[in-house]
Amino acid sequence: MAARLVASFTRQHSPAVRIRADLELPSGTLIFEDPPVHPIHRRVLSKLFTPRHVAALEPKIRDFCVRALDPLVGSGGFDFVADLGAQVPMRAIGLLLGIPESEQEGVRDLVDAALRTESGGTMTQEQVLVDSDAFGEYVDWHARNPSDDIISQLIRAEFVDETGTTRSLTRDEVVTYVTVLAGAGNETTGRLIGWAGKTLADHPDQRRELVEDHSLIPNTIEELLRFEPPGPFMCRYVTSDVEVLDATIPEGSVMMAILAAANRDERRYRDAERFDIHRPDIQHLGFGGGIHYCLGNALARLEGTVVLEEVLNRFPTWQVDTEAARLAPTSSVRGWESLPVTTP
Ligand code: HEM
Repeated sequence: MAARLVASFTRQHSPAVRIRADLELPSGTLIFEDPPVHPIHRRVLSKLFTPRHVAALEPKIRDFCVRALDPLVGSGGFDFVADLGAQVPMRAIGLLLGIPESEQEGVRDLVDAALRTESGGTMTQEQVLVDSDAFGEYVDWHARNPSDDIISQLIRAEFVDETGTTRSLTRDEVVTYVTVLAGAGNETTGRLIGWAGKTLADHPDQRRELVEDHSLIPNTIEELLRFEPPGPFMCRYVTSDVEVLDATIPEGSVMMAILAAANRDERRYRDAERFDIHRPDIQHLGFGGGIHYCLGNALARLEGTVVLEEVLNRFPTWQVDTEAARLAPTSSVRGWESLPVTTP
């Protein structure tokens, strides 16, 4: 479809409120960019998401889960969001970027605050643009203390820009990339973890199967992303008239693609409204599609898998405290802000 990407959800992943706010965004905010600039910027970042980089994070993510969950054994309950969803993605991105553990919560809170909207409200430029100075400090520190984390690699990266010049990234561009990753990977993955807690509590028979057979967990993550996608929709401006089915969508229109609806399309999935960890051939749209397909998909999948394994190792059953559970008031990333559960 001939549609220029303007906004999706979160600061990078943001919906119609961001389109309505009509914002200027810094170069490097790749989810808002079009070719020819977008593939150049994406190539720079995608080198940092190689299978080797992502796999190297697994033991550290697992170690963090173990440290977070062990003290909760015997405590009678925990919160899937406060204890896991709000913690694990932040640690994973912190590890990837080289943000020290002591600073990670501050960074997450900054990003989350920028995503909060009053129901029906429109975002302001100030609200959308997370204060990237917070990341500037890390970038400057890494410029002085290079290692093999993403920030150091971005500082070293050389690429051919849209003018054909081989160059490295400016400091501001590095800050933008870092801000993009921190925004894109935190809340989305946190919501996936919340949905895992809720959906498996609603399907105790399938949860029991997972306790007995962890090899079912990766497909369960795919089914969760189909059934309860954390980013349920995305938006585009249409850059030239385009035919879709029998209609012409005129240039300049704003379109919203409801990924969550496509994920439950009965023409694609048998019993689409049923959660089924054994469902074959899941090709959900939870990570989008096309040139902006989620760059962090392997990391998100890894985090979801490790969290579920470690939760099920300790807590084969749990019950959601539905009185206390609360959905998050974010503009676009749908899921639980608080999901307290009781454990036997
Ligand atoms: C369950 C967790 C996640 C979900 C559901 C998710 C979903 C998505 C979706 C739907 C898009 C496409 C948006 C569009 O086309 O408008 C996207 C793009 C993106 N995601 Fe994710 N994401 C997740 C986790 C992550 C993580 C962990 C990272 C990185 C640390 C990340 C980084 C990105 C980036 C950089 C893009 C933009 C890619 C581009 O424009 O070329 N995401 N994500």
